[in-house]
Amino acid sequence: MEFLKNISRNIFKKRSIDDLIQTSKKSELKKTLNVFDLIVIGIGAVVGTGIFAIIGAAITGNAESAGAGHAIVISMILAAIACIVPALCYSEIASMIPVAGSAYTYTYATMGEFMAWMVGWILMLEYAIGNITVASAWSGYFMQFLKGFKHCLPDFILNIPIWLRYDYRAIYSMCDKYGWDIHDKIPFIFDKIPVAVNLPAVIIVLILTLLLIKGVKESTKVASIMVGVNMFMILSFIIFGAFYVKPENWTPFFPAIDPVGGVLMGTFTIFFAYIGFDAISTAAEETEKPQRDLPVAILGTLVICTILYVCVALVLTGIVPVDKIDTAAPLSHAINYLKVGRISDLFAGLISIGALCALTTVLLVYQLGTTRILYAISRDRFLPRSWRAIHKKFRTPYVMTWISGIVVIICGLFMDLRISADLCNYGTFTSFVIICVAVLILRKTNPDTHRPFKVPFAPLLPIIGILICLILIFFSLNTLKTSSNYFIIWLVVGFLIYALYGYHQKRLGDKKRG
Ligand code: ALA
Repeated sequence: MEFLKNISRNIFKKRSIDDLIQTSKKSELKKTLNVFDLIVIGIGAVVGTGIFAIIGAAITGNAESAGAGHAIVISMILAAIACIVPALCYSEIASMIPVAGSAYTYTYATMGEFMAWMVGWILMLEYAIGNITVASAWSGYFMQFLKGFKHCLPDFILNIPIWLRYDYRAIYSMCDKYGWDIHDKIPFIFDKIPVAVNLPAVIIVLILTLLLIKGVKESTKVASIMVGVNMFMILSFIIFGAFYVKPENWTPFFPAIDPVGGVLMGTFTIFFAYIGFDAISTAAEETEKPQRDLPVAILGTLVICTILYVCVALVLTGIVPVDKIDTAAPLSHAINYLKVGRISDLFAGLISIGALCALTTVLLVYQLGTTRILYAISRDRFLPRSWRAIHKKFRTPYVMTWISGIVVIICGLFMDLRISADLCNYGTFTSFVIICVAVLILRKTNPDTHRPFKVPFAPLLPIIGILICLILIFFSLNTLKTSSNYFIIWLVVGFLIYALYGYHQKRLGDKKRG
């Protein structure tokens, strides 16, 4: 009985806010980021695969679910609404507890160590597993970009064998679709194990890993240039495309078959496009004035992205009929669809460059987020402490940065990309629910702690945020059977790691500290 009481005391043990803030004050990470850097991190993390690729699938749907059709605009607004309350909650807590680790750390302060570990583990779905989807989309756009140089590049680069460009699952489904023989396309080890590596994706993840080890300021400098390029391309798409919109293309506005299901599924799918603003809070310990700058950056990023996305959706569905929208590269395809002479080709090529920049920054920020969350988890001893070693010269967590890079590369070898995008959505929705709950708890337990930013209309708004996210989680769990099974397996594996390793390590660590 005493044993059980002990366990339950330990798993619900919280870290006080003062303790967390003291830990962050002792942080060895360099404090170099200002509000501009944070917005660059935010837009860099948010604008990417969602708006440059996934929007196509959200409009047209897929084998398991209907799409939103022209009503994608409604899905976009619903997805933004699902994000706004969690963004307000993130702003309140991040300004109150400016400590690395994001939702993981906030859960530790409000719900205890077990929930904190599970949230950290779920956040890995959002950051590391989400990055698999992004790395693969990056590779697709990169190959398209290389084709623009077909006159000056050697053949072996332009025609890299298919098994060096895609993961084996993608190749199997291409073989199914086009009736190819798999043995013509991939080499097999012992005639059984297929060998396929998405080489461009592996190379970009390695380059970004090295960049992040060199330093977070250096990384955001590179990111700010790329964010500038991709913003310019998106704005150009909106302005140029607006001249070719045919309002009759917007009717019928709702999909004829299953309009409610289509719009909800569209919302769940396009939600991927909004994910990332929370990454700003993972850089809290590296921010010069976190209390002031974190809320401004989080909310600013969300507002900027929502306006851009709605405009892109209106233009895209206004120039291309729904059944003609491309699912791989919908924006470049839309410009080509206009057939306005050579300008179409050139502009479509430039959009690919914008997409490449956008996807690179998403990868960069997600890798940054993964390492900072793992850093906080290992500082609390749920993962080996040796993982959080800091590089002597660059003062960055280099072991963790390598681990995150290698995980993305290895998982990318065998994970289905659509499933990794769905898992990323599940992870994010769950962390949003937790963050809204954390605000409610902290308002009760720490009513007097200074809050530089407060969620208005609490507790009503956080409760609405929780309900919206739960509806979307349950609706999609019901519809996407394969992804929901993976999500449950992920939760079980996380639980086992805690039960068999993290729990005991934490107790050992506490004993050592006396
Ligand atoms: N929001 C990020 C993207 O769209 C994850 O790529």
